[in-house]
Amino acid sequence: MKGNKTSLGICALFIIIGLFRFTYANPYNPHVSPTKGPFVEGWYSRILDFESNHSFGILFGRVMSRDKDPFFGRYALNNVVSLFHSRGDDSSMEVFRGSPSSDDVKVTSQGKLVTMEPDFKSSASFEWEAKSYGFFQVDEQETRFNFTNINGVSFIGILGAPNPWGPYGEGPEGWTDEYPLHWYVYSLGSELINYNWVNEQTGEMLRGRQGVVFQQKVWGTTFPLAWVWAQGFHWASRASFALSLGVLGTAGFSKPIHLIGYRSSAITLNFRPSNSRLRKNINECSGVVSATVTSHTHQLEFEINAPPSSFQAGLLRLNENDFSPVCVETYIASAFFHVYKRTQQRYELIESGEFHLAALELGGLYVCQE
Ligand SMILES: *[C@@H]1O[C@H](CO)[C@@H](O)[C@H](O)[C@H]1NC(C)=O
Ligand SMILES: *[C@@H]1O[C@H](CO)[C@@H](O)[C@H](O)[C@H]1NC(C)=O
Repeated sequence: MKGNKTSLGICALFIIIGLFRFTYANPYNPHVSPTKGPFVEGWYSRILDFESNHSFGILFGRVMSRDKDPFFGRYALNNVVSLFHSRGDDSSMEVFRGSPSSDDVKVTSQGKLVTMEPDFKSSASFEWEAKSYGFFQVDEQETRFNFTNINGVSFIGILGAPNPWGPYGEGPEGWTDEYPLHWYVYSLGSELINYNWVNEQTGEMLRGRQGVVFQQKVWGTTFPLAWVWAQGFHWASRASFALSLGVLGTAGFSKPIHLIGYRSSAITLNFRPSNSRLRKNINECSGVVSATVTSHTHQLEFEINAPPSSFQAGLLRLNENDFSPVCVETYIASAFFHVYKRTQQRYELIESGEFHLAALELGGLYVCQE
């Protein structure tokens, strides 16, 4: 977040001269509209209903193209809102999409148009709204959304206060500024207050009030060449994990990256390239990802798998120039973790965790081509 230091500087100046009262934002809050592409900004939430085992996903955001449109002489800006629904069994996930025009999208932070980049200090407060599609509204206590008629589906709900990744707005990247793409986890698992899902085409109505919610945001000027993203919760023990690994870069340059968080009642572990090394094995066509990540103090070994038939192809996700089908995703993965602590001479197993109905996404070069 290169812009951050500058905007904080300017912000401090205004406070000193007392022109405005500034409130700070949170990395989950919207970024200032860029003046040139490429730029992506997308919010994604996943709700898991414990009573029915159904999962629902909400994705909305925008992509500004890398190049100017030769005809209009400006960068193309695409907005998207997508809803996902999985029944928790191996029937394939359903996807519903809308593409609001930019004139119909209004994004505000603290009730005002966005003129400052988010910082790390304060709670989230923003609203994304698209005329005739609905809204997603966040404050520090709750998230409310009401999407209507996205491809025939309406989805309304209330989500509880976030269960943050770390203190002071810390996310998976820690405090580094070195990546062209940012991943911020707003909540590793908040409480579902309620939802109401209506599919007008089939007449199906689903409601729930027992579940858990994951919320994240991605933004930046590139998208990975290849990636694995996964997330899961174990509500009874309150354990959770979220991870992204892959390769950032362009044709001429590439850099492996891993950002991994594991939480249980006993331990909080964060791994990133600056503190650990990753060995991974991705078998995209059999739907299996396994890896070992090792830091000076701990080692985490994991395997995440899902039936290949459960991956939904053609999900539109943020790509560099548009939202194209660049990845496959499932909400019925199983994940197995072993946590080791370093003792004198070796790594000693201290706990194991198992997660079912986890989310697993394979993107870019990790999409099975068979
Ligand atoms: C939900 O999944 C769990 C296993 O993860 C299973 O024990 C339970 O019976 C399922 N519930 C329903 C309603 O399918
Ligand atoms: C959701 O939005 C629709 C359309 O604007 C509106 O009719 C409905 O009352 C809203 N529901 C809630 C719970 O806000």
